[in-house]
Amino acid sequence: MPDAAELLSQIRISGAIPRHVAIIMDGNGRWARDRMLPRPLGHRHGMKSVRAVVEGAIEAGVEVLSLFAFSKENWQRPALEVSALMSLLEEFVQGEADELERQGVHVRFLGELERLAPAASAAVDRVVRQTAHCATLRLNLFVSYGSRAEILLAIRSLASDVAAGRLTPEQIDESAFTERLYTSDVPDPDLLIRTSGEQRISNFLLWQIAYTEFSITPVLWPDFGRKELYEAILDYQQRDRRFGRVPA
Ligand code: FPP
Repeated sequence: MPDAAELLSQIRISGAIPRHVAIIMDGNGRWARDRMLPRPLGHRHGMKSVRAVVEGAIEAGVEVLSLFAFSKENWQRPALEVSALMSLLEEFVQGEADELERQGVHVRFLGELERLAPAASAAVDRVVRQTAHCATLRLNLFVSYGSRAEILLAIRSLASDVAAGRLTPEQIDESAFTERLYTSDVPDPDLLIRTSGEQRISNFLLWQIAYTEFSITPVLWPDFGRKELYEAILDYQQRDRRFGRVPA
């Protein structure tokens, strides 16, 4: 079995690197259950995978990495698990801010951030400010995010512009809409990876993934690392992306 370094060499000669990779990080709970550990420990191990994937993405030359860290629906999990996830998020941004900056990672948080507790919110603001000048990798962390809610926000913004006479209904096109999404300043994902074998989108980037290639792996998120990222990229490089057209 080739290791991560060998896979990276293959990627470099196998064609275009996906500019934007999005990941639904799933399976932390099952990983913990399989080891008779509490669920929060699965999330803690999942944080290590986040580090590995950020480094792997930088080395491969990916420009944008989007990670679904906490959905709007996740607020309904038991309070203990929600607070463990929030603490991990804080720990990650506080503990990794300097290293992320050194690696040139521009961190952004996307979602209903007003729902975060004050301490988490302050930590988030700090890392965003600290890394704002970085340009090697853009890391989008989706927190308290739901794609339908994001779409409704965009629709409300369009509707209020129409009501105020700033926009006519005929001027509502794809670009007017995408400008109002959290992701307005990044290209759509080329590759969407979901771990743990589940075959669903779970309200992630519904508009943005119109032509995205999917990669579903049975590997649970805490076991996912550089090697698994590179396997998904290599598989992506074999795909024939047609965007609805016929082959040339
Ligand atoms: C899904 O696994 C994962 C999450 C809800 C949280 C993802 C969080 C991390 C990877 C750690 C912290 C992240 C950052 C960015 C610091 P699940 O709990 O739904 O697993 P299950 O389906 O096996 O129960």
